[in-house]
Amino acid sequence: MQWKALALAIEALSWIELKRINERLALRKTAKQLDIRDEAILRQAFRLIMEVTRRRNALDHLAAQALDQESLEDLNLGVRSFLRIYISEVKYGDITFKEVVKMAELAREILGSRELSTVEEALDLIPHLDIQLEGFSDDEATALRTFHPAWFVRYCRELLGREEALRLLQVPDLPTYIRINSLKGAEGEILESLRREGVELEGDSGLEHAFRVVNQTCPLNLLRTYREGLFTVQDKASVLAGLVVAPEPGMTVLDVCAAPGIKTGHLSQLMGNQGLILSLDFSERRLKIWKREMGRLGVENAVPIRGDARKPGAFPDVKADLVLVDPPCTGTGTFNRVPSGKWRLSRRSINKMMSIQRRILDNCAEHVREGGSIVYCTCSITAEENERVIQDFLQVHSEFKLIKAKPRIGLPGLMGQAEAQRLYPHIHRCNGFYIVKLARS
Ligand SMILES: C[S@@+](CC[C@H](N)C(=O)[O-])C[C@H]1O[C@@H](n2cnc3c(N)ncnc32)[C@H](O)[C@@H]1O
Repeated sequence: MQWKALALAIEALSWIELKRINERLALRKTAKQLDIRDEAILRQAFRLIMEVTRRRNALDHLAAQALDQESLEDLNLGVRSFLRIYISEVKYGDITFKEVVKMAELAREILGSRELSTVEEALDLIPHLDIQLEGFSDDEATALRTFHPAWFVRYCRELLGREEALRLLQVPDLPTYIRINSLKGAEGEILESLRREGVELEGDSGLEHAFRVVNQTCPLNLLRTYREGLFTVQDKASVLAGLVVAPEPGMTVLDVCAAPGIKTGHLSQLMGNQGLILSLDFSERRLKIWKREMGRLGVENAVPIRGDARKPGAFPDVKADLVLVDPPCTGTGTFNRVPSGKWRLSRRSINKMMSIQRRILDNCAEHVREGGSIVYCTCSITAEENERVIQDFLQVHSEFKLIKAKPRIGLPGLMGQAEAQRLYPHIHRCNGFYIVKLARS
């Protein structure tokens, strides 16, 4: 392990805890602050960070067992972050005794011997500890074994039943998917360029333009084909959204909660850059990325609009043929890719999100022309943010009805919503996702 990678990981983990931000953002901020650009070091630090955020509850449980007088919360933030990395590497990593000693030495250099003295005894103890589960309920023990908050384990058990919930909670790493951007060339030629750059792909996603990455020789965003916008990294579930919207050249599409524009790029591709996409989002930072991405992908028919979709006045004065609503959600379907999300949420966050989603969807109703439709999707698996939002919407808006849209690769929705689709990480090997199409009469 390198000094810089460990220093970066300690600092980034402290940011994640302090500012409640995700792994990628924390690494970007820290790398900028410490002026570290070396790709190999960044990759090493990212792995350390992800391993810690993935298993945080079990690491903290082991830390509590190892710390005698001190409690984890009383430790200085840097020491706490290092202790988590140390436990993660020693208990769950593939690391030799020599490397363990070296890691502790590096931490003394980075944090100071005095700071680290509070946990020196714990460092010696940790290799000999096993996680103690006595006295825990079934849900609490499952939470520690599968590295999820106990409330979420309970939630999944109640939603899906114990066996299915366990399969969901134990899902291994998910593949990366890309979408070939036919706005920039013929698919066959782009695939050939990617092959020449060492990217091996499998076309088994079941969806047009979406490919699973089987092998790559360097990070995808460093490839020439990426810089030139010939493809974009996009989860299979997200590609499904664009295909269900199914816009045609010349149509007007309202793209609500649009940044950073992964789905906007796809809509534009399906429209052959013809017609108009109005992309509404309230985050200035994310809209900046949206603009950069549209430039990279060669999108010419989309316009950004900054506004709060909870407010009716933020919407452009339009009756669109199609509306895509991709509102903020709890992201319970993406814990595999963004594990820090698990620890930011509480059971209450689900209901808070549901009320935002209801307001946003409600505001969209009057911006669809007669005969048009709304596609609503989230990367959450909860029923509140999905079937419940739709059920409530349909009760108020009798001019809309659920329709079965193609392509269908998911399972039917819950609560009798056979027209909706649900994707699950353990079944469909992609983000957990819900999608439904509502047609206006
Ligand atoms: C799931 S992400 C959208 C992803 C995007 N559709 C894509 O494919 O790249 C949700 C987005 O909603 C935006 N958002 C959250 N609350 C909002 C609000 N009240 N009004 C408008 N946008 C909002 C966030 O800034 C975020 O970009």
